[in-house]
Amino acid sequence: MNADISENLEEGHPVWPEGQEILQIDPAIAMTRFEDLLPFHDGLIDYLIAREGEKRAEAAKQTGAAGGTKIYHIDTWQVPGAHLLDERAQALYRQTVGQTTSAVDLSWGNIYRAGDYILPHAHRRSQGSVVYMLSIGDRDEEDPLSGRFGFADPRLPMCCQDTAEIMTTPHFPQLRPGSMIIFPSTVVHFATPYRGETRPRITLSWNLNKTPLASRPADDEARGIAAHPAAYPDNA
Ligand SMILES: [Fe+2]
Repeated sequence: MNADISENLEEGHPVWPEGQEILQIDPAIAMTRFEDLLPFHDGLIDYLIAREGEKRAEAAKQTGAAGGTKIYHIDTWQVPGAHLLDERAQALYRQTVGQTTSAVDLSWGNIYRAGDYILPHAHRRSQGSVVYMLSIGDRDEEDPLSGRFGFADPRLPMCCQDTAEIMTTPHFPQLRPGSMIIFPSTVVHFATPYRGETRPRITLSWNLNKTPLASRPADDEARGIAAHPAAYPDNA
């Protein structure tokens, strides 16, 4: 185990808890669940709802297809648990892909309100993508597939249960609060429309590589996103 994996960031919460198990749901996709992070959730949710309010006061949402309101650069959030989550996402990446180093290309929180969804897509700048379930929001008893994260990719056998390489069966992993999942960034994924009217559905996402990429001029995944403060060390 790497020294940085056992480093204590927040008292009583090592970056990788003793005995924390990783469940492989596909040769390329793995999940774990951090029960010790649940006490951080209320504070993280309150923080993100406040940031959502600030962002929406500046500009209205133009479409629900972007997965709601995005708050970027998780490691810079001034709320307990955010930095630890960032370290755990990177630790999960290092362990599952067998790397000794990791670098976050981009990270963000998604605050879904009623009607928000994400169309099927993949990410081309990173090797691994991680999603953490912070809040599932309101349950929809009439439509259990609303507000769900899923995979739809003909390269995944679990999405092709009738005929190999023919994508007939989207797969919805069981993500509970505290669940973290990692998958190849090239795997096609999506989120179905969320319908909750009271509480938001909130997920955190990371795109990861072994080492930092060069700057990202005019990259469409970064367009309109303020750079991470560490990209400008003179101003940090
Ligand atoms: Fe994505």
